[in-house]
Amino acid sequence: MSHEPLDAAPAETPRRDAHDAAVDALESSAPAGGSDHERRHREATPEEDALQDAGAVTVLRRGVAATPELREGLLLTGLLAILTAAGKLAVPILIQQTLDRGVLGDRGYRAGFVAVACAGTALLTIVLYALNRGTFRRLVRAAEASLLGLRLRTFSHIHRLSIAEHVDHRRGALVARVTSDVETLAQFTEWGAVAWIVDSTLLVATLAVMAVYSWQLTLVAMAVFVPLLPLLRALQRRQLAAYDDVRNAVGGTLSEVSELVSGAPVVLAYGLEGRARRRLDAAIDKQYRAHLRGAKWFSIMFPLADLFGAVALAAVVAAGAINGEAWGLGFGELVAFLFLVNLLLTPISQLTEILDQTQTAIAGWRKILGVLATPVDVEEPVDGASLPQGPLAVDLEGVRFAYREGGEVLRGLDLHLPAGCTVAVVGETGSGKTTIAKLLCRLADPTAGVVRVGGVDLREVAPESRHARIRMVPQDGFLFDAPLADNVRMGRVDATDTDVDAAFASLGLSGWVDDLPGGIHASVGERGGNLSVGERQLVALARAQLGDPGLLILDEATSSVDPETEQALANALDRLATGRTVVSIAHRLSTAERADVVVVVDAGEIVEHGPHAELLGRGGVYSGLFESWLGNTRAG
Ligand SMILES: Nc1ncnc2c1ncn2[C@@H]1O[C@H](COP(=O)(O)OP(=O)(O)OP(=O)(O)O)[C@@H](O)[C@H]1O
Ligand SMILES: [Mg+2]
Repeated sequence: MSHEPLDAAPAETPRRDAHDAAVDALESSAPAGGSDHERRHREATPEEDALQDAGAVTVLRRGVAATPELREGLLLTGLLAILTAAGKLAVPILIQQTLDRGVLGDRGYRAGFVAVACAGTALLTIVLYALNRGTFRRLVRAAEASLLGLRLRTFSHIHRLSIAEHVDHRRGALVARVTSDVETLAQFTEWGAVAWIVDSTLLVATLAVMAVYSWQLTLVAMAVFVPLLPLLRALQRRQLAAYDDVRNAVGGTLSEVSELVSGAPVVLAYGLEGRARRRLDAAIDKQYRAHLRGAKWFSIMFPLADLFGAVALAAVVAAGAINGEAWGLGFGELVAFLFLVNLLLTPISQLTEILDQTQTAIAGWRKILGVLATPVDVEEPVDGASLPQGPLAVDLEGVRFAYREGGEVLRGLDLHLPAGCTVAVVGETGSGKTTIAKLLCRLADPTAGVVRVGGVDLREVAPESRHARIRMVPQDGFLFDAPLADNVRMGRVDATDTDVDAAFASLGLSGWVDDLPGGIHASVGERGGNLSVGERQLVALARAQLGDPGLLILDEATSSVDPETEQALANALDRLATGRTVVSIAHRLSTAERADVVVVVDAGEIVEHGPHAELLGRGGVYSGLFESWLGNTRAG
């Protein structure tokens, strides 16, 4: 999409004001050649890259192996499907027999024979219906079970991947693996897989019966059908490309709409409605045109098989009528032949479609297998140890860490924090503070070194004990879209409303909760968006309070928290800290001042640690930070 000139920004003014910036943001996120949303979905892991080079057959084999539900009962389903095909083939033969032996035979019209043959054909048709229905139901059931199983397995694998994999820009891709990528397998699992067996059997068997009746007529029919195959394939390629465009266009419209909905405040505040509307119109128009193009190819392709079928029938009738006697062809055989030609039409027109379904499925499996092949590096111990009661000491010994992308983030940390102390970890943005917090609750293992909590290597601690005794309040205070009380209850599933009330009360937060519309039953919105970041952290503190953690990790919000909430947070934390080890990732001077120990992190290393007053006297990194804090406070 071309960038329109910025009509709202006077070109001669060098100063860029907020309005320009907003317009720019709106412009630069335009879905150019596939939306933002699409681009995110194309991110690949190294495992996916490796699979990219694997052959189609390898992927197909591994894909089917990763989807055991697909093979369950496949033998019986395949058998049923082949029986159905054989039954279809029997109908023309029965018709031929009726005509040649019951109507036009040497003994003239035989009412009894015709009646029996007709009844047999009718019965066969009913049986065929039942068989068809049974096959189809089995196929759909197996397909849905396959998709469900694959979704669950992929999802639980993604959940078990350490945070080293959960890079922001990969999130969309990971979501797509579980949703749309699994969906691409639907057609193949529902029909394509079995159709390979059924259609090829039907094709070969029909041709064989045709050849038995008359090899000459078989050649006539083939002469018409053979050119149809490449033609169908070519048309289908074009149709597929057109539908790819449709999918991209739909993705474009979707991201456009979702961005404009979530960006509504900016759009309204800066009066950008006209521009937003033009961009949305363009996206919708693109989608409309893409749909029409796709439909054009479909409308050419759809009647084509019928057209060729009619030509083949006509050719067979003509050739049969002219040469029938010379080729030793009876009337009944000719009629049966016409039915057989019709029967041939289905597998021939389906072949290209199945080929396509298989290709799509292989592409989907390639992506899903890539995720499933990504190793889970946080393995839970068998018979894990329990953390001791009471406050927990923390020891870092030569701890190093790197995310999957980018260089080393923690570069050899050594630190001893005695049980029961209050610690403030401070440092520039991006220095690695949140990463330390993540390692302390084992969202990932260090790439080198050991994290010990309560004297135990975290890798040896049973997950239940770790979850119960180590609690983290995340930096963005993520909450689930559920009532406040349910979010708090995640700290202890059996907690009653009274317990939740008590948790807030013990942190001195009853007043705050009572002021919320609905109290503890207030809805917090998606990601907790109805509350401010600081308020979300209050909820997370109440959640921690419901358990009995020996180590509490608070990752303070980077964004400013209003003074009232900040005070509430500090008070709540003070109360929660009694008898516990508390590690606060501090962005505020007050937190550092109150702590027993301040740990200063700089570019992934601990450069200073000690009490606030002592560090201040040293005139090092900490005193520099302190100066800038003081400056900010004065400016504020
Ligand atoms: N999921 C991730 N994948 C790759 N790199 C990451 C990831 N998360 C963080 N990083 C990088 O690791 C480094 C340390 O990040 P971290 O979040 O620990 O910093 P921080 O000290 O908490 O910063 P802030 O004060 O802004 O919260 C940064 O350079 C960051 O870009
Ligand atoms: Mg952080």
